[in-house]
Amino acid sequence: MRRERSGTLGPIGGDDDRFADQSLRPQSFADYVGQDRVKENLQLMVTAARARGEALDHLLFHGPPGLGKTSLAHLVAREMGVNIRTTSGPMIERAGDLAAILTNLEPRDVLFIDEVHRLNRVIEEVLYPAMEDFKLDLVIGHGPGASMSKIPLQPFTLIAATTRSGLLGAPLRNRFGNDFRLEFYTHAELETIVARSARILSVRLEADGAAEIARRSRGTPRIANRLLRRVRDFAEVRADGIIRRQVARDALRLLDIDEIGLEPMDRVLLSTIVDKFDGGPVGIDNLAASIGEERDTLEDVYEPYLLQIGFLQRTPKGRVATSSAWRHLGKEPSKGPQGGLF
Ligand SMILES: Nc1ncnc2c1ncn2[C@@H]1O[C@H](COP(=O)(O)OP(=O)(O)O)[C@@H](O)[C@H]1O
Ligand SMILES: [Mg+2]
Repeated sequence: MRRERSGTLGPIGGDDDRFADQSLRPQSFADYVGQDRVKENLQLMVTAARARGEALDHLLFHGPPGLGKTSLAHLVAREMGVNIRTTSGPMIERAGDLAAILTNLEPRDVLFIDEVHRLNRVIEEVLYPAMEDFKLDLVIGHGPGASMSKIPLQPFTLIAATTRSGLLGAPLRNRFGNDFRLEFYTHAELETIVARSARILSVRLEADGAAEIARRSRGTPRIANRLLRRVRDFAEVRADGIIRRQVARDALRLLDIDEIGLEPMDRVLLSTIVDKFDGGPVGIDNLAASIGEERDTLEDVYEPYLLQIGFLQRTPKGRVATSSAWRHLGKEPSKGPQGGLF
């Protein structure tokens, strides 16, 4: 369980989060805060598809974990007034699994495939004719006697989500009618989100407490919600149960979340680049080995926000810690040939 080192909070997307994600999931576009351009496009598409009585075009949502991809897929199905069937790339092991799901869809239903970048290539090819012509090409039997059979499907909408759109091949990518990138949230948006979550969970949250949590949530609603739950525990046990600025600060200090929301693993990542590699560049595999964390986890979970706030840069030679990162760690950027770059 190497991940335990990454903080008191446990991995993002763990069981605790999964449970909370369900109860706190936005139930309408009005509840879904931010991502205005994405929302406006989706609402337009849904209205048009509904008026025509057609299935919505296939959609791809990409962006870091916890930004609202799964929530959006559920919202789209709800607004379309259709069922949603959810699965994920690694869960579909054989072509037959996918065929069984597809043949059971009702007209205009949504099939949601999470982590679509982990879909196996053979299965991806079953998906192409299904997406394009609503047909399944199935091989019946084995050997010389085998024959191809085309099975018609109901028109459906595939909604796929991925944290790593770069890993998707062009053939799959090109079959989506639309491709939406979710962005990190502003502090104001996160304040609105935690305020709503507090109402649902019956947590007493003052505006300055909400602001403190929002500021330290790394632009991510799932993190804002998990910090809210942890700060609530603290407020109930160590204070009067009301989340105000000072309680939030004390609770977050105990969780080892710093002023700008970085958690221990973020700081380990940055200080490894700074201390062991003199600020970089260092290749991602080398970095992952030095930290003792999976490369995928670094790339999916930790790097996107550090890139967003300009603490990290990806260069052809590897990762580089910027001067802001050095200063955040309380160090003066190295005067060496590499550290002097930024
Ligand atoms: N735009 C949003 N408005 C309000 N809450 C959100 C929003 N996006 C995400 N959330 C909250 O964060 C949780 C995680 O979102 P989720 O859709 O599971 O993210 P992803 O699928 O991108 O990892 C949701 O259950 C919900 O509570
Ligand atoms: Mg999800």
